[in-house]
Amino acid sequence: MFKEKLSNGMDGLTFNDVLIVPNRSEVEPNQISLNTRLSKNISLNIPIVSSPMDTVTESEMAVSMARNGGIGILHRNMSIERQVKEVYAVKRSDEFIIRRTITASPDNTVSHILNLMRTENVSGIPIIKDKKLLGIVSTRDIRGISGSKLAEEVMTKDVITAKEDISVDKAFKKMYDSKIERLPIVNEKNEFVGMITMHNIMEREKYADAVRDSEGRLIVGAAIGPYDLERAKKIDAEKVDVIVVDCAHAHNLNVIKSAKKIKENISADMIVGNIATASAAEDLVDFVDGLRVGIGPGSICTTRIVTGVGVPQLTAVADVADVAKRYNVPVMADGGIKFSGDIAKAIAAGADTVMLGNLLAGAKESPGREVTIKSRLYKSYRGMGSLGAMSGTDRYSQAGRTKFVPEGVEGVVPYKGSVEDILFQLTGGLKSAMGYVGAKNIESMQERAKFMKITNNGIIESHPHDILITDEAPNYPLH
Ligand code: XMP
Repeated sequence: MFKEKLSNGMDGLTFNDVLIVPNRSEVEPNQISLNTRLSKNISLNIPIVSSPMDTVTESEMAVSMARNGGIGILHRNMSIERQVKEVYAVKRSDEFIIRRTITASPDNTVSHILNLMRTENVSGIPIIKDKKLLGIVSTRDIRGISGSKLAEEVMTKDVITAKEDISVDKAFKKMYDSKIERLPIVNEKNEFVGMITMHNIMEREKYADAVRDSEGRLIVGAAIGPYDLERAKKIDAEKVDVIVVDCAHAHNLNVIKSAKKIKENISADMIVGNIATASAAEDLVDFVDGLRVGIGPGSICTTRIVTGVGVPQLTAVADVADVAKRYNVPVMADGGIKFSGDIAKAIAAGADTVMLGNLLAGAKESPGREVTIKSRLYKSYRGMGSLGAMSGTDRYSQAGRTKFVPEGVEGVVPYKGSVEDILFQLTGGLKSAMGYVGAKNIESMQERAKFMKITNNGIIESHPHDILITDEAPNYPLH
């Protein structure tokens, strides 16, 4: 009887239970591509996604993730209006043509324009009448000028403009040659449609690996509750690239029904999770654009302790990937990643991307609060099913309650500096792993990598041992 109840007769395995076996290789780390699929229609340049948690991903994190080749998923522990603004903040951050430019009319006063410049944090304002561009007022035009003067009296006329199809290189040359900081864009009817700024061009140049949408704006995802059609429609209208239906147990028939309806109402890709079994994948693969895998592996999760439910993460990823591959649906391994080696193992098991909470929560760009403990800097990090976070979300189906059964904890993680530096270390480790396996790309890593199950002694041997690693980091001379 009990034998029959044992799920599949096999041990459930997680990252620490295995090592990837080295393989014959001709691949050097600099020949490796980390390009991968997040969902059916979205590719990333690195297989890393930041988690929709309120101490991990808001717009600042999402901007850094996309600039460095990955993507951030905005959390949903905020009002719909605020989440819409967060999506826009990412889209606006280094877009080529800024389409929602702050403008003024010719009869606006200088003091009105000054006020706009201050509140909107811009230094040049196009002056528009009947959609036509009449001129630009920049800070230079109004320095020392009386606040009661009108825009049309102070604006710079005969502005140099360009058409919408101008390339980045041509726009740069035009601005450079004419010594201007802003290039207004007009359509064939000579109507104002937006603006290119030198500042934005320079920002874009810095990030060669950035992932952008068809209009050249950074990509971004956002989480929604499984029944939140209204939120889905509003962020979709804001051109979010991917919507993540964020639920602790997506193998729930009501969730599946609702997710199907949401999918019919949006144009963004839709990733659904979390799941941990092949049968859950079977029930979702025909309508989702991606699957998110992980029930309880996260560093802040107590689901497995509180409920006794879960599947060790490597087995969960492999089981879901087996099904998903047949339907061409990308798989994201979410939770429990502690080292770059775990990213390599997740991909070797079949994941196309990994989602990180803990490893990114200590970044400068995370929204978590900075805390100093015994003169060390930390950032707060909490589960979305923790007591503190739950009052604002329904991931654990407890919205509206006054008493909760938490499935997560709250704590702090060490401050780690910029996302760029963290990702450099993680992708560096992954590339080395792919070199050991002889895999030039993610697909080949999934195919070529073989695992060996290890014992507790293997784990002890794998970590640094028999050396005193001191916090003082002394620089002992060699002689
Ligand atoms: P890591 O290990 O990267 O895991 O910190 C992040 C993932 O954990 C999930 N998550 C939770 N799971 N209770 C849970 O059981 C929680 O309170 C909780 N909050 C987040 C989520 O999938 C996240 O990406």
